[in-house]
Amino acid sequence: MTEQDAAGELEARLTEQDSFEPPESFVEQANVSDPGIYEEFEENWPGAWERAADLLDWESGYDEVLDDSNPPFYEWFTGGELNASYNCVDRHVAEGRGDEAAIEWVGEPTEEDDRTYTYAELQTEVEEFAAALRELGVEEDDVVTLYMPMIPELPVAMLACARIGAPHSVVFAGFSADALATRMNAADSEHLVTCDGYYRRGDPLDHFEKASEGLAGVEHDVSDVVVVDRLGDDGFGHDLADNHHDYDDLVADHEGASVEPVTRDAEDMLFLMYTSGTTGEPKGVKHTTGGYLSYAAWTSHAVLDIKPEDTYWCSADIGWITGHSYIVYGPLALGTTTVMYEGTPDYPNEDRLWEIVEEYETTQLYTAPTAIRAFMKWGAEYPEQHDLSSLRLLGTVGEPINPRAWKWYYKHIGGEDCPIVDTWWQTETGGMMVTTLPGVGDMKPGSAGPALPGVDARVVDTKGDEVEPGRAGYLTVDKPWPGMLRTLYNNDERFVSEYWTEYSDTESSDAEDWVYFPEDGAKIDDDGYITVLGRVDDVINVSGHRLGTMEIESAIVGVEGVAEAAVVGGDHDLKGEAVYAYVLTEDGHDGDEDLREEIIEGVEDAIGPIARPEAVVFTPELPKTRSGKIMRRLLEDIANGEDLGDTSTLRNPSVVDDIQAKVSED
Ligand code: WT7
Repeated sequence: MTEQDAAGELEARLTEQDSFEPPESFVEQANVSDPGIYEEFEENWPGAWERAADLLDWESGYDEVLDDSNPPFYEWFTGGELNASYNCVDRHVAEGRGDEAAIEWVGEPTEEDDRTYTYAELQTEVEEFAAALRELGVEEDDVVTLYMPMIPELPVAMLACARIGAPHSVVFAGFSADALATRMNAADSEHLVTCDGYYRRGDPLDHFEKASEGLAGVEHDVSDVVVVDRLGDDGFGHDLADNHHDYDDLVADHEGASVEPVTRDAEDMLFLMYTSGTTGEPKGVKHTTGGYLSYAAWTSHAVLDIKPEDTYWCSADIGWITGHSYIVYGPLALGTTTVMYEGTPDYPNEDRLWEIVEEYETTQLYTAPTAIRAFMKWGAEYPEQHDLSSLRLLGTVGEPINPRAWKWYYKHIGGEDCPIVDTWWQTETGGMMVTTLPGVGDMKPGSAGPALPGVDARVVDTKGDEVEPGRAGYLTVDKPWPGMLRTLYNNDERFVSEYWTEYSDTESSDAEDWVYFPEDGAKIDDDGYITVLGRVDDVINVSGHRLGTMEIESAIVGVEGVAEAAVVGGDHDLKGEAVYAYVLTEDGHDGDEDLREEIIEGVEDAIGPIARPEAVVFTPELPKTRSGKIMRRLLEDIANGEDLGDTSTLRNPSVVDDIQAKVSED
């Protein structure tokens, strides 16, 4: 057989195969390889969750694993006391591992030196910055906003906050000034840590300007702003106001400071993370110290197979929950080396990630389907230029992965020798919920896998009855889990109405009657493998980032000359979904190029470039039902160039042809 024939045969086999066994070499060394773990959790629920808590050091043990007396306000490991910064840093130093690398940071410019933080160095810097925050007046339970890109001072600041019991609220650096202001206002946050700028595809970006603009929109007094000097000589030379402090000066002023980690209750808030929902107001998801940290550590252990001697890499941004749980808290709690990369995968070349994997002999890579689709488009020649044999496990998260992309990842990155974990979860769940255990279950490309042990995920119909295998339904989670959000910040009512009404008996005080609804569609097969189909609310998923259509619509309606707007997600080869905006002008005429530009700018100003519309379609009317509801489904079908079927229930059926014609013109 020629080499080409062999390659062809392999290709054909990969295409046909719909189930893959975990490689023997992986199973032999896996943290979890006993299939009995599912039964163990089932038979001893919730007691088996002690396994997660046992991965941490507690100052005082908990009385109860789960207190479910007041659903859906569940409490985990009640009465237990611990500190997250101690668990992620100090204890590893105390065990004599202070010289081992905690963080390997790689900046975007290739000529810049990488930075290694050993656990001992990390502890020193965390303590120094914690001392600085205290001196600035940050007290226990004050929310500190961190508006920072992928620089090492971000995890340092998170851990410094955790050390003194001040919850952090990280705002993704790509979000706009308005988005920062909204989040600081919602959290009543009086402290901000930010930076002068960072590099994107070779150019320094002015981040400080955006932060300052955001501060102008904060309605209360902001007592202090700490600014990290990331750019040095490439900086923009901004003057710092009186309440602004240079990060390096602060840390130098507190050189050698020692700050005892404060004792936190298991249920004390560790952080807030704002995420998009159906309404225009972002939701402040509250995560706790004991439950969240246990869950992040447990899933990092069981699913990512992290061991202290690994060099593990999650390529997400810490500004999202993926980075919180699987760059910072989970990996550091387990005492491993976590890689952080500042830049994009295609700078300076399309092999940048593979160069980093080779250089650091990375053992795991956790990324998103949108990135994998881009790697595929660039071609296998980029990974082929590098030795990727250090990799032992691959992961994906953020959106459904199509089997073709899965198989490409399996073959070209994993060399057919690494299990892939396709992990379904959400900002709200704190950690992974549905995925195969890589040392236990077979993998089926396109399907995330069974629910994790102890996680009661089901696929149900509108009445809440489980659907037949193969039929589409809605994903629910019928039992609580330690990493779950506890509430929406300052809004218990919205917490209940957003997640706990569809399938719960809200009058009941029995936990059995409460069911969590994540707002995803799904189907399940005979083996209990769940395929997630996507959101069923007005939230779209662009490159694995969650955007509320209402938020985008209100930004568009804010542009002068716009009367009405409807935003939907259309299919996109690389991004998964892209933003399609249908816009009515005030005078009923088509908007011109200028208006189109203003609309795009309006969205970027309100949210950030990630929400930038792919298409702005001017239309004289929006398709509406007789009761006046915008037919979003129809607008999605138009965006995707699909056959529309029966449109006779519309109040204005003729508008559809007009819009279709416009979309195909664009
Ligand atoms: C939504 C949550 C979890 C961190 C990243 C996103 C979608 C997430 C998968 C997956 C199919 C997925 C869901 C979910 N999603 N992972 N493996 N397969 N869909 O967090 O911003 O809170 O978004 O992302 O629709 O509800 P998020």
